[in-house]
Amino acid sequence: MQYADIIGWGKYTPPAILTNDDLASIIDTSDEWITSRTGIKERRISHINTAEMATLAAKQALASAGIEADEIDLIIVATCCPDTLVPNTASRVQQLLGSNGAVCFDLSAACTGFLYALQNATAQIRIGAAKKALVIGAERMSWYLNWNNRDTAVLFGDGAGAVVLEATEQKCGLLNAEMGCNSNSRDILKIADFGTDMDRFENPPTALQIDFAGPEIFKHAVRGMGKAAETVLAQAQLEITDIDLLVPHQANVRIIETLQKQLKLKDEQVMVNIHRYGNTSAATVAIALCEAVEQGKIKPGNNIMSAAFGAGLTWAAAYIKWGNRVTPINEYSQQEQQCSQTAKQLLAVAINGCKS
Ligand code: UT7
Repeated sequence: MQYADIIGWGKYTPPAILTNDDLASIIDTSDEWITSRTGIKERRISHINTAEMATLAAKQALASAGIEADEIDLIIVATCCPDTLVPNTASRVQQLLGSNGAVCFDLSAACTGFLYALQNATAQIRIGAAKKALVIGAERMSWYLNWNNRDTAVLFGDGAGAVVLEATEQKCGLLNAEMGCNSNSRDILKIADFGTDMDRFENPPTALQIDFAGPEIFKHAVRGMGKAAETVLAQAQLEITDIDLLVPHQANVRIIETLQKQLKLKDEQVMVNIHRYGNTSAATVAIALCEAVEQGKIKPGNNIMSAAFGAGLTWAAAYIKWGNRVTPINEYSQQEQQCSQTAKQLLAVAINGCKS
């Protein structure tokens, strides 16, 4: 029997930081409101595009796995911020990695995208269709945001995370998952006027923005992730006391705390980094998983539960049995990706554009 071990991990969190106080100088909001309602203190604004962020995360993951890019035979990029619709972002990542020939595709499931992609790549490895896979969550949410709309501008950030999967006989990697989509509620979180829905000739859209019903999604998120996590535990024949770490989607710290309470987990059993990055959509779980290993929160053989929800409304929970590796084989330096501009400078045109 084949399994898909996670043998490498990496992330790219852009250097330009946009604090809550920065935001309060642009729109009618405050550090107090954002912190108390969401847990977010700051987020990153990228000076490079989605594929470049994804590639930097992938390079670090490959170095940590100790393998070369041309050993990879499957690349999945979970994103809702593709640089181009055609060709896809994954093919650009492969090109930037200097390799060729792998199956490359993008997966669009918003914030749930990374878990959908992890399950997909795991399944391909388990049936023998792939041997080594790169699974990436990468998002440049700052591109979509209406910087004049405080409902959404304060919530999101940019970033990327990646893992390398490898076929193994050892029973580890993603072992059980419960995933789905509640399409009846697909309209409560959307980016309208992007794609063939838009009136391309008669009335072309002038600005994009994320439309959403925050409190409604909040309720769906708590219900959906909790139920999926309980189903996964039952499938895996585990008790919640068997779980070492929860790595949840980072959309709102109050959602995470509610899930934590529901699953009766202690603070140290929950990976939280939303205060530093905000909601990076498909990148949140990938970055959180990477940081959990870096911070020594994941030990060999640990039982990890992850859960996410997002536009669609997609939802997922997954049980991951960590393999043996918790120390990177090689380090990869991202020094060359320093940015000379501040986050506010990077956003200046977008902020003015949204006001007009
Ligand atoms: O990952 C998938 C996408 N993620 C989500 O959709 C997140 C899910 N939802 C949430 O996290 C929360 O619902 C929000 C953080 C979006 C909102 O929190 P809330 O506690 O549900 O606040 P609310 O929408 O009920 O708004 C409360 C008040 C309103 O004012 P009034 O009507 O009570 O006077 C808003 O106008 O807060 C006001 N408000 C703000 N005030 C300052 C909304 N946004 C802001 C803001 N700064 N940025």
